[in-house]
Amino acid sequence: MSFLLLKGLHVTCAVTSYTLFFLRGIWSLRDSPIMRQRWVKIVPHVVDTLLLVSAIALAISIRQYPFVDAWLTAKVAGLLLYIGLGLVALRYGRSKAVRLFAWLVAQAVFAYIVLVAAQHNPAPFFAGK
Ligand code: HEM
Repeated sequence: MSFLLLKGLHVTCAVTSYTLFFLRGIWSLRDSPIMRQRWVKIVPHVVDTLLLVSAIALAISIRQYPFVDAWLTAKVAGLLLYIGLGLVALRYGRSKAVRLFAWLVAQAVFAYIVLVAAQHNPAPFFAGK
């Protein structure tokens, strides 16, 4: 698969993952029955798996790796944080306030990952690399 196609798949999965996370947060906070639909339990996992597989394939194709190149280390750390906050927001948060807070912070972390990706820089808020 060409690099551009792989990157297109990766970015499409990132957008879809964010959209599904955003919607599931709203449905969960509103106790919507949509959360109990079968596809809602399956599709996000498929998308997130593809996101990760395409991430690994991209890293291999540009020969840059987490724990070697700081921007990719930052992306992996961000992804782990995003997953953890997602679990609190959608499953383990004890109150709606906690779940709402985790949902909002997870979105900030997601935005950070996108900025890191766009600039190849683990500190995208600062100039330079
Ligand atoms: C929620 C998780 C992730 C999101 C939202 C995300 C988002 C993105 C976006 C938007 C781009 C395109 C950047 C651009 O060209 O402007 C990108 C590229 C890329 N991502 Fe991710 N990514 C995620 C996870 C990861 C992880 C964990 C890795 C580490 C293995 C990774 C490796 C890469 C690589 C190697 C590229 C190609 C950079 C290039 O064009 O040179 N991504 N990612």
